Amino acid sequence: EKVVLAYSGGLDTTAIIPWLKETYDYDVVCCCIDCGQGEELDGLEERAKLSGASKLYIEDIVDEFCDDYIVPCVQADAVYENKYLLGTSMARPGIAKKLVEVARKEGAVAICHGATGKGNDQIRFELGIKALAPDIKIIAPWRDSKWQMDSRESEIEYCRAHGIDLPFSADSSYSRDRNLWHISHEGLELEDPACEPNYDHLLVLGVSPEKAPDEGEYVTMTFEAGVPVSVNGQKMKVSDIIRELNRLGGKHGIGIVDIVENRVVGMKSRGVYETPGGTILMEAHRQLEELILDRDTMAVKKDMGNRLAQIVYEGKWFTPLREAVQAFVESTQKYVTGEVKFKLYKGNIIKAGTTSPYSLYSESLASFTTGDLYDHHDAQGFITLFGLPLKVRAMKMAEVEKK
Ligand code: ARG
Ligand code: SIN
Repeated sequence: EKVVLAYSGGLDTTAIIPWLKETYDYDVVCCCIDCGQGEELDGLEERAKLSGASKLYIEDIVDEFCDDYIVPCVQADAVYENKYLLGTSMARPGIAKKLVEVARKEGAVAICHGATGKGNDQIRFELGIKALAPDIKIIAPWRDSKWQMDSRESEIEYCRAHGIDLPFSADSSYSRDRNLWHISHEGLELEDPACEPNYDHLLVLGVSPEKAPDEGEYVTMTFEAGVPVSVNGQKMKVSDIIRELNRLGGKHGIGIVDIVENRVVGMKSRGVYETPGGTILMEAHRQLEELILDRDTMAVKKDMGNRLAQIVYEGKWFTPLREAVQAFVESTQKYVTGEVKFKLYKGNIIKAGTTSPYSLYSESLASFTTGDLYDHHDAQGFITLFGLPLKVRAMKMAEVEKK
């Protein structure tokens, strides 16, 4: 029988290959899903085969990741606990979908992942798989009583004993997860919230604001109906827009977030995220909406965005609620078209001009000269009615206190 293993090429998922064969006698089909993790994919084929996998799939889902997951989350302004731009969370449903597709193609009976029993990723992978393929068995070695490795040393030892001699280092680094949208860092000194992160050691996608150039740099972006379409006058697909913004944002120290977040499984966990391009893109989208959306829509949309963040964080992508929330957000995006210009400077995004053919901002209305559309006298009657409940209550209270 076959199992499809979500394979990253790292030590954990490599050790899982011989373990699955030995423990469950499975034929192991590895599947590495490329969401834009970059150079991490080098030498993967060789490594998987050497470790005893019968086959390796490398599936590029970068554009699907952008169009189906990132864009809806940008449009919704989905941010978890006010800070986390959901880079890891957003990628999980797309990975689960691909794993199921490969499992079907291979006639596999099970899917295996290397997420630990303490984290969010196990939930996201498994909810995705359950929603798409309820018949497929899920194997999570880290929660399996037959899994006895508890350190990198023991995993390396296990691999060696099974004839796999690969140059893995025994000392652990940060626990990282990278894709086109972000990189996350957890572990080492970050585990103590009292510790300052060692940024020189930690950052991968860019530099800290202190190390950024003394000279600011302008960037312009255009959107059509809520979808980013160009950077600095160049039309590009979304993945290329994010790549270019990552380069610019990384250079200027943009989008570094240090957060203690609440995991679904109950614990607090400290992480540092680098989301250079995403931070710029979401801010630009927000700028446009400020001009274009009416007040009531903005208010409800804010709630929907928070709700979507929750849904994505908890791995509930393949649900009717996600579809409904996304549909609401989509219907608000019809006129989110225009151009945003920013100056990037030492970790800051400075507004340098926003324009839209659908802007509701009226200079004559906002400025202090009186025009036809707004008569100052109207405000008096408006405030009389608007303040009526406050006044009635205050009168009542005065009466009650007298007694
Ligand atoms: N805490 C973040 C989240 O829950 C990042 C998780 C990183 N995952 C990993 N396998 N290193 O989305
Ligand atoms: C893991 O525990 O596998 C990574 C962290 C997380 O999923 O939250």
